[in-house]
Amino acid sequence: MLDTIEELEEKIKGCNKCKLCKTRTNIVFGTGNKNADLMFIGEGPGQDEDIQGIPFVGKAGKLMNMAFEGIGINREDVYIANIVKCRPPLNRNPENDEAVACMDYLRNQVMLIKPKIIVLLGNVALKNILGNEFAITTARGKWVEKKGILYMPTFHPAALLRDDTKKIYFWNDLQEVKNKLESLNI
Ligand code: URA
Ligand code: SF4
Repeated sequence: MLDTIEELEEKIKGCNKCKLCKTRTNIVFGTGNKNADLMFIGEGPGQDEDIQGIPFVGKAGKLMNMAFEGIGINREDVYIANIVKCRPPLNRNPENDEAVACMDYLRNQVMLIKPKIIVLLGNVALKNILGNEFAITTARGKWVEKKGILYMPTFHPAALLRDDTKKIYFWNDLQEVKNKLESLNI
């Protein structure tokens, strides 16, 4: 475990712990406030993220930004990262060996950022962080507390692009997160 986010980012540069290193353009480490109380964890970079090296800058990210604006969450105040730091080819889900190989980096990020609340975006984040027994359709919208961190599972914003009816749930879940932050006085 490294002691600063900067050291960790430096260490990940050039990582070849899994096969995603062969096809990536850029590593997408994470972005935002390194002392954030609120953290978001997605799945893995898509094409736009792979090109720019920044998480959630493509279509799904723009939709997430719109929800942030509507609810009054400042993107600069939060921290955003993914389960895997390199793009899975053709945007397939990360495979288990890839998620496992990359997980130490995310653990180290969470340890350093010390968020009070983590929003898990979609099934891949949910299952890798809270366990395979969870499924997003039944877990979303319900708080799970683990080792002093409050987790809120919700739909991945890319799922909202495929199915409009999910938008309201995503919106409600983020509103619940905002309310919780306010009630915790942070
Ligand atoms: N989808 C993700 O899961 N993460 C990103 O960074 C972009 C799209
Ligand atoms: Fe390393 Fe993670 Fe990229 Fe795999 S996905 S090469 S473990 S940084």
